Amino acid sequence: MIETYKNMTPKIGNRVLIAPDSIVLGDVTIGDDASIWFQCIVRGDVNWIEIGSRVNIQDKCCLHVTVEKWPLLLEDEVSIAHNVMLHGCTVRKGALIGMSTTIMDGAEVGEGCLVAAGSLLREGFVAPPHTLVAGWPAVVKKELNPEQRELTASIWQRYVKYKDAYAQEGRIVSFAQSNIDQLRYSPGFPRN
Ligand SMILES: CC(C)(COP(=O)(O)OP(=O)(O)OC[C@H]1O[C@@H](n2cnc3c(N)ncnc32)[C@H](O)[C@@H]1OP(=O)(O)O)[C@@H](O)C(=O)NCCC(=O)NCCS
Repeated sequence: MIETYKNMTPKIGNRVLIAPDSIVLGDVTIGDDASIWFQCIVRGDVNWIEIGSRVNIQDKCCLHVTVEKWPLLLEDEVSIAHNVMLHGCTVRKGALIGMSTTIMDGAEVGEGCLVAAGSLLREGFVAPPHTLVAGWPAVVKKELNPEQRELTASIWQRYVKYKDAYAQEGRIVSFAQSNIDQLRYSPGFPRN
């Protein structure tokens, strides 16, 4: 479901998949070939949210922001695994956020990082690029080894393919521009 709020309508790129039971609302921009899976909330009501190209946001994620202070930025090719809570944070290109992680206001995850499943990144926490971050609260463990780099780089690519497979079944929402009249509807995606 794509919702306008206070005249702010999400701007959604081409070939983007948004599951029908997810909500994308307000000042949200989503790049080409991104995917937002089932039961997610992307609530850009009191600040902006930007989601880069080829980003995947897996099932049951919640993305929100803090008024006037902390917007939310996910750069290209980021993977957000199932059941993640992102609040007013920045995730740099190609990072993987493991399942059931929480990331708080002002935290920044560096390019290519792997955040282990079940981590808590406290306010303002900074993860240097290509490091493994883990724990509740999280600490920087070490530089990623080759297997961990491979895992981190593989997931966003897989999810572009998964999204395309769903698209072949008619399950895709795509805007040419940020204009709700330009939605191409399909049976899987009722209009509101
Ligand atoms: C991080 C992960 C890849 C494990 O990697 P690994 O190579 O087995 O990790 P290591 O054995 O090198 O562990 C390094 C350190 O991190 C710790 N660690 C690893 N995973 C952890 C986790 N999930 N939570 C807390 N600490 C963790 C280890 O205890 C170790 O700590 P130490 O050095 O203080 O002893 C795995 O736990 C993980 O979270 N994968 C992501 C899963 C996921 O969400 N996938 C997306 C689904 S699409």
